[in-house]
Amino acid sequence: MTGSPLYAAVCRRLAALPIVAELAPDDRWDLPLRLLGALHYIALAEELDPWTSPEAVIADRRDWIAEFLATRRVQTNEVQRAWALLPAFLSLGVPRLDLLELGPSAGLNLVWDRYRFRYRGGSFGPEDVALELALELEGEERAPVPAELLKRSVEVVRRRGVDLEPVDAATDDGARLLKCFVWADQRDRLERFDRALAVLRVDPPELIAGDYVDLLPSLLRDRVDGALTVVYQTASTQYLSTDRYAELQDALAAASRPLAWISTRRNDEEEAGLSGGYELEVALWPERGPTLVARTGYHGQWLEWHGVGA
Ligand SMILES: C[S@@+](CC[C@H](N)C(=O)[O-])C[C@H]1O[C@@H](n2cnc3c(N)ncnc32)[C@H](O)[C@@H]1O
Repeated sequence: MTGSPLYAAVCRRLAALPIVAELAPDDRWDLPLRLLGALHYIALAEELDPWTSPEAVIADRRDWIAEFLATRRVQTNEVQRAWALLPAFLSLGVPRLDLLELGPSAGLNLVWDRYRFRYRGGSFGPEDVALELALELEGEERAPVPAELLKRSVEVVRRRGVDLEPVDAATDDGARLLKCFVWADQRDRLERFDRALAVLRVDPPELIAGDYVDLLPSLLRDRVDGALTVVYQTASTQYLSTDRYAELQDALAAASRPLAWISTRRNDEEEAGLSGGYELEVALWPERGPTLVARTGYHGQWLEWHGVGA
């Protein structure tokens, strides 16, 4: 819960509460995220403050929370991660991209070409958007993105995402579910989310329901002529078992080339054992396999860009 004093404090209060163990007997590592998400959902739906007396709110809505914990996955669709991904997309050096996102949640990071991006070396993205649809992403650049990279242009010719439970951002429940996983005291993230949601709702991407490990081989047989297919994911493969992740890698290895891959690494893949952020890798088969290109905060709030020479 780094970066959220509110959630850190609430977690400390709830950690030893017997009712929490009763409500969520599975005790998975992401339980705090799901429990705090449930409380935030209640806050958004009922416009009340669940943080002053979380114990009372949990006791009061015990059945609803138990159901939420049993049936809802973490759906942190963090649009700021697009700020860390953009240089990776541009580094592929091709003008037309066919996007396939694994675990896109609602797809906020499938429409990244509609956002504006700002880096020390320059900016990227559409200039002429209506104010209500303008989302500009910027963050802390620990190693700069080269200005030359930002001068490249790229067209997205198709966007597809595969998720176990795609979130329909057009509905109130979908929007609330997404928003409840943004930490309640992080106002800038909440505001970014509202803007990204407005952009997404204008023309949502294709979201396919299913397990991407199973579906990837068939999806990769369907390509767009004259475009490079890019399979990418952030914060999703960490939920796979080692065996399932190996199956995913086999599917990528067996797919026809050319093929690009952009991914935040799992803990067990890290080269530097970095804490407090992700390593970002890019592959462009057949030229080169997965290569560390950057490090980034878990929510894309900072970026240390190194490029292919990292
Ligand atoms: C923490 S969210 C991240 C969402 C998005 N990638 C982002 O970074 O904003 C993880 C997403 O991965 C999806 N997911 C996890 N395992 C999956 C699988 N095997 N197949 C399809 N989707 C999966 C979940 O349903 C969830 O939407």
